Amino acid sequence: MSILAIYKESGELVEVIEDYEEIAQRLSSIGVRFERWNTERELPFSATQEQVLEAYREEVDRIVKEFGFKSIDVVSLTPDSPRKEELRNMFLSEHTHSDFEVRFFVDGCGTFYLHPDDKVYVVLCEKGDFISVPANTKHWFDMGTKPFFKAIRFFSIPEGWVANFTGSDISKRIPSHDQVFELR
Ligand SMILES: [Fe+2]
Repeated sequence: MSILAIYKESGELVEVIEDYEEIAQRLSSIGVRFERWNTERELPFSATQEQVLEAYREEVDRIVKEFGFKSIDVVSLTPDSPRKEELRNMFLSEHTHSDFEVRFFVDGCGTFYLHPDDKVYVVLCEKGDFISVPANTKHWFDMGTKPFFKAIRFFSIPEGWVANFTGSDISKRIPSHDQVFELR
């Protein structure tokens, strides 16, 4: 079950929201789009990129058209990945991008941390969740110590994906994905 947990910058928990409509509404107020797509399609974790994109063709086409994305790919990670720590650490500090960061979780889960004002909006995304983080919004992402997810990534410009780190240590004060997972 996806949740939205809101924290003060000090790391104090303010509230936890579990209702999907309310999560979408609260995120919309900070410019973040959150949708739940129908995932009843039979798709094994071993499905290829082509099979995943074919299964979600309708939704993917809609998003590509709406945002004008130029490329898409499918990324997956499992707890036995030898690069899991390196990949986890890559986006664990607060940063921004000059492009949207848009993901659809085909399987598994991961946690986005959005810091648009004096609160941190922690979104535990699960299978079926679509999220778009606007350009220049401060955020970070935690896949946890035992990453398990498969996600479609949407890109408009190659250089838009470069992370501009803010230098803030705020991500150390907010619970990790593993801890947020326990709030469910
Ligand atoms: Fe990012």
